[in-house]
Amino acid sequence: MTSAEATPVLQLSGIGKEFGAIRALHDVDMQVFPGEVVGLMGDNGAGKSTLVKIIAGNFRPSHGEIRFAGSAVHFNRPVDARTVGIEVVYQDLALADNLTAAANVFLGRELKRKFGPFALLDHKAMAARALELFGELRSETRPDDLVKQMSGGQRQAVAIARTRLSNARLVMMDEPTAAISVRQVEQVLSLIHRLKEQGVAVMLISHRMPDVFAVCDRVIVMRRGEKRADKAIQATSPEEVTALITGAKEAA
Ligand SMILES: Nc1ncnc2c1ncn2[C@@H]1O[C@H](COP(=O)(O)OP(=O)(O)OP(=O)(O)O)[C@@H](O)[C@H]1O
Ligand SMILES: [Mg+2]
Repeated sequence: MTSAEATPVLQLSGIGKEFGAIRALHDVDMQVFPGEVVGLMGDNGAGKSTLVKIIAGNFRPSHGEIRFAGSAVHFNRPVDARTVGIEVVYQDLALADNLTAAANVFLGRELKRKFGPFALLDHKAMAARALELFGELRSETRPDDLVKQMSGGQRQAVAIARTRLSNARLVMMDEPTAAISVRQVEQVLSLIHRLKEQGVAVMLISHRMPDVFAVCDRVIVMRRGEKRADKAIQATSPEEVTALITGAKEAA
């Protein structure tokens, strides 16, 4: 489908955000379509995380409108965004180290079964569903693996499996590959491919040019709170994106 036919899963119009006298975002417009992987790049302080937090319901925008799957939305807290199908995977993944992979996938949304007047955790059902989710993502993580013994890439798989549980329609990843090894980066990029295959839109915030060029369909460059470029990946180059990030090139 071309963008003219599809309804964007996410549409921002004129989004601005001020923190006191600091203008973190100014007049940002963007659209993200189902099954599209969009790279969001920009130097430190460009406004990337602020934008993600606005979309995820952590902050209210000072200006502008957010539409999700065609309807205007107003998120007051993260659960509002999660309810419509927006999930975020942060660099400092909030996983519980002492629990298993399956327990982390279901953290806060545990499956229970009735046992007389009691509701007991249904560990068997959660392990089975977690195994399915890891299989869907082609991750070798096993439900009973302890998170504290996992590598960075395996942790990302657990965090991404969590987003599948809720049938997310938009997954935003803020620097998911910043602190992991080359082999694990490959694993995370292939997880992004899996999400795309399932029609999930992905927004990848990264400083790593090779990652963005490997998985993204489109790249958006932010500088000083403004969107400076929004281009199909085939229509640009790492050199041009670098110039846009640093300001050597004003806009494209
Ligand atoms: N809670 C806050 N209070 C005040 N200022 C903030 C707050 N969060 C962000 N800012 C400011 O907003 C601007 C954009 O910050 P943001 O964290 O969005 O940048 P970023 O593009 O994610 O950078 P990085 O690549 O370093 O993560 C910066 O000037 C920052 O200092
Ligand atoms: Mg940031």
